[in-house]
Amino acid sequence: MKGLILAGGHGTRLHPITLGVSKQMLPVYDKPMIYYPLSVLMLAGIREIQIISSPDHLDSFRTLLGDGSSLGIELSYAEQDKPRGIADAFLVSADFVGDDPVALVLGDNIFHGAGFTGLLEQAARNVEGCTLFGYPVRDPQRYGVGETDAHGRLVSIEEKPARPRTNLAITGLYFYDGKVVDIARGLHRSARGELEITDVNRAYLARGEATLIELGRGSVWLDTGTHDALMEAGQYVQVLEHRQGVRIACLEEIAWRLGYIDRDACYRLGSRLANTAYGRYIMEVAESGRALPPTG
Ligand code: G1P
Repeated sequence: MKGLILAGGHGTRLHPITLGVSKQMLPVYDKPMIYYPLSVLMLAGIREIQIISSPDHLDSFRTLLGDGSSLGIELSYAEQDKPRGIADAFLVSADFVGDDPVALVLGDNIFHGAGFTGLLEQAARNVEGCTLFGYPVRDPQRYGVGETDAHGRLVSIEEKPARPRTNLAITGLYFYDGKVVDIARGLHRSARGELEITDVNRAYLARGEATLIELGRGSVWLDTGTHDALMEAGQYVQVLEHRQGVRIACLEEIAWRLGYIDRDACYRLGSRLANTAYGRYIMEVAESGRALPPTG
């Protein structure tokens, strides 16, 4: 299975911060935003991952993450010359994806919570059609919105409806089977001029091949789209990390726990960052031999 992280866009709602830097490179407390979606793909067991970004920003991701070998994964990079919608990711990365199953995660989405890793493993194990994740929110009109029947089966999806039928947002994490590139190729631009991921999901729904996993009340899905949301996401991570003494989305710890790197390699990665609590945490985790269940 392949993984895609879409880290493009102009981040206009975060101007002036994002005039000179990619939104997905901004800090969410102690690490760059892209660590969070990357940790999600890693926790799903995906090791071949492509990062899509704009020509201006691609090099900064390369500098940050390299070819992934230090984490025991394979990272590659693809250029999206201008934002054309989320589903454009499958056209940009068509050669990389081929007809393999693929998970797409938006580079600004943060997931966390008990049981989430289990759901990821489940979604990655049997990809037939598509698997989407629903999350109840107060302001569903800002998102793709799903409607389910009495058995929890998905019956409709609408993109940013003025009058949402439910409060169930479709999050920015999607698992697809090998048909997705062809489906994306057949899409037409929406009224806002984009190739909509909701139209891909609707195509699967029309075939009776869309599954929805509802993330329960104990789960966390955070948005980083506005100054306040970005600050709140950072505060959430700070509070949890302080309270529990564990780190969310610590890629080095995850790589070690999954057996992608050994304990010494994990320690060395931490020691390079020894000036920070983040680096010292990695060293401590490696030293103590306790690979605490990481959280995505
Ligand atoms: C996009 C999708 C929407 C989804 C959301 C999740 O919205 O179009 O369906 O619910 O991501 O973050 P956008 O980021 O384009 O506003």
